[in-house]
Amino acid sequence: MANKENWGSRVGLVLAMAGNAVGLGNFLRFPVQAVQNGGGTFIIPYLVCFLLMGIPLLFVEWSMGRFGGKFGDHSTPFILSNMAPKKQFLWKYVGVFGIFTNLAVAAYYCYLESWTLSYTWHSIAGSFQGQTAEGIANFFNNYVLNPGTEAYAFWIFCLVLNTYILSRGLSGGVEKVAKVGMPLLIVFGIFLAYKGLTVQAGVDGAIFSSSEGLNFLWAPTPGSSVWDPKIWVAAAGQIFFTLSVGMGSIQCYASYMRQRDDVALNAMSAGWMNGFVEVCLGAAIVIPISVGYFGIDWVIENTKNGGLGLGFRTLPYLFQQWGPVIALISGVFWFGLLFFAGITSSLAMGTPCMGFLQDEFKMSREKSAWTFGAAIFFLGLPTVLFFKYGVFDEYDYWAGTISLVVFALLEIILFAWIFGMEKGWKEITSYADIKVPVVFRFIIKWVTPTLLLFVFIGAFFKPVGNDWSAVLQGRWVLDDGSVVNTILNSGLHKKIAATTDGAQLEELNKQLTYINLSRMLLVAMFATVAAMVYIAYRKRVK
Ligand code: TRP
Ligand code: TRP
Repeated sequence: MANKENWGSRVGLVLAMAGNAVGLGNFLRFPVQAVQNGGGTFIIPYLVCFLLMGIPLLFVEWSMGRFGGKFGDHSTPFILSNMAPKKQFLWKYVGVFGIFTNLAVAAYYCYLESWTLSYTWHSIAGSFQGQTAEGIANFFNNYVLNPGTEAYAFWIFCLVLNTYILSRGLSGGVEKVAKVGMPLLIVFGIFLAYKGLTVQAGVDGAIFSSSEGLNFLWAPTPGSSVWDPKIWVAAAGQIFFTLSVGMGSIQCYASYMRQRDDVALNAMSAGWMNGFVEVCLGAAIVIPISVGYFGIDWVIENTKNGGLGLGFRTLPYLFQQWGPVIALISGVFWFGLLFFAGITSSLAMGTPCMGFLQDEFKMSREKSAWTFGAAIFFLGLPTVLFFKYGVFDEYDYWAGTISLVVFALLEIILFAWIFGMEKGWKEITSYADIKVPVVFRFIIKWVTPTLLLFVFIGAFFKPVGNDWSAVLQGRWVLDDGSVVNTILNSGLHKKIAATTDGAQLEELNKQLTYINLSRMLLVAMFATVAAMVYIAYRKRVK
């Protein structure tokens, strides 16, 4: 068999899996989701979703992966089809999601990762020293809206670096990076969290103490309600993104385990490590520091368009308030931390594609790595070139948000209902180093699929203003952020209809074109992978 790789050690496997999960999402996306969804109120649905969706899906995906490895399968198309009766031939195409998502997300994620490298460099070079808040914010705007040679150079470097590490294999490449990167990330994170937690009103120009930001994050905001479905959909989305479930990368990593390796305890270790980094470190950096200098209202106002602003536009400026030495250390630690978080995740996105090419097309490890690298170069190019027309966000929406829910819903139905909980439970508990609470058998069969179904409906048919009480009263008008209206480009069409300014109209029409083109590209990507799965299947039958 061509593909006989294994993990070198248990520590290596758990760190690689934790590295897969711990990513930019923990430090940039989580705090912003909390800010946008009622502060402390968000934490309750978040924890419930972790217990009822995150952990069950971790058990399912890890054991699916180890099960697939038994038959020499390392990517979801054939892992899934092996779990279903022969005549249900469609499951291998469901498995296409587990390759498509990784390709599409890697395409934009590596670009984002390259910013962190560039910013690490600029922190060392002292580019941010003595600059005004505006200057530093403009630097970022310029960087992403009009990418110059530097942006391209860091991006290409990042792609080559990822590809090179992947070509060295799991124990020779990925595992080594995780063993160095994860501990460093935690050390950097603890330093920054310490700085974040000791911001004091009146010291170094801060207006508020960090308790202000922390209270906001941990105490329910007056007026927000735990019963607001919007908050639940956001919490579920964050749990997905941060744990890397519903993507196919966990199954792939797990398929390289040995058959007698434990899945239950390993899955818990990686999952809780991610939770710790997110809730203890991720929550203690961006928000307390920004709130300390600008207050909560400013932070709420400035996170409306996502988390990248605070992390890149604001923090490098705030670090300067601590004097040049601490500013340098903080800058290098912050962007270095983001870089390690990013690269251990993007490496995980590479392996399913490589596993598929190696299993089915008998490619060598090196060749499959460079094929993946070339693919994400071409697929990523539009996100770099046309960032300002929303191509990056379009990839993030379809591949990084919607696909995950669709795939997770289908795979848990396969696992719990078609493969069956009898066999499924055996897969989870065999060779387990902990006793898995029996209640998870019930949760995996009933609770998780139900919750996923709600999230799915919530995303596709989100009502105007996310106001579900209107739906209960029989008024169901779709929001422009719902999947249905997104496909129709309703929001953009409304903007175009309301614009009279010629130049602006031209820009909006351009945006519409680029968004439609990027969607076609994503569909073509999916179709290409599906066609390759079909070819692989024909080859197997012969
Ligand atoms: N979990 C990562 C984060 O928190 C993101 C991530 C890792 C991911 N692997 C993925 C996203 C695969 C999509 C597909 O940043
Ligand atoms: N729209 C996202 C935001 O909240 C941007 C984004 C995409 C992102 N992928 C990410 C942010 C990963 C953090 C981590 O800003």
